[in-house]
Amino acid sequence: MTTPNIPPASPAAPKRAQDYAAVRDWPGYFDLMLGKPARETLVAALSNFEKESTNPTDSRLAVDLGCGEGRDTLELLARGWTVHAIDAHPRALQLLTPRVPPDAESRYHPVLATFADARWPDRVDLFNASFSLPFCEPRDFAAVWRRIVSSIRPGGRFAGQLFGPRDGWATLPDRTHHPRTELDTLFDGFVLEELREEERPDSTHDGRPKPWHVFHIVARKRRP
Ligand SMILES: C[S@@+](CC[C@H](N)C(=O)[O-])C[C@H]1O[C@@H](n2cnc3c(N)ncnc32)[C@H](O)[C@@H]1O
Repeated sequence: MTTPNIPPASPAAPKRAQDYAAVRDWPGYFDLMLGKPARETLVAALSNFEKESTNPTDSRLAVDLGCGEGRDTLELLARGWTVHAIDAHPRALQLLTPRVPPDAESRYHPVLATFADARWPDRVDLFNASFSLPFCEPRDFAAVWRRIVSSIRPGGRFAGQLFGPRDGWATLPDRTHHPRTELDTLFDGFVLEELREEERPDSTHDGRPKPWHVFHIVARKRRP
């Protein structure tokens, strides 16, 4: 009897962010992200505020929704902002809180809550939601979005990502994706300072396709 030639199994490639996010393995995702710099959309929004600010004592109140391990919250705190950092996973705040510098502790407000249940101040200068809102349950999205929009003060900003219909996760029933045309409705009453549509092929660590279709957004709410 002959033994068939079975090729040796190739060593598994290390898991990537999308492998963890696909199955909401947030602790795995946070470990991979720990220590990464702030997201580009947040940095762009902050730079837009800085360009128009003449008064260093201007109010700087932000919400960081789905803050994760805290890459954006830490940047906001470092720049003097007060931040309501919201996440539903306790590990996010366990990783973030000890990294808040002592001089920023009084400006840091951690909130363990889901998007649907979270409460935040009703007048904020910046609403940041980096790669988080696509994980909102579709049944909750409209109400969450209404609350986000109404809490941003006139002249305030939204920064973050929404996902489009050609993203690989658009077929998952617990995700929220938006066609480009819907963005005009969502951002009615805003000036879109940045709307970058990213569409590119990618894969999971075990070689399955994971196309990305992402809208990177910075938007300023119009003044009446
Ligand atoms: C892809 S991560 C993004 C984290 C971080 N903002 C970043 O840019 O890396 C999504 C985050 O949303 C949080 N999240 C997912 N579903 C949530 C929900 N229903 N309510 C609150 N947070 C949620 C996760 O715990 C995770 O921290």
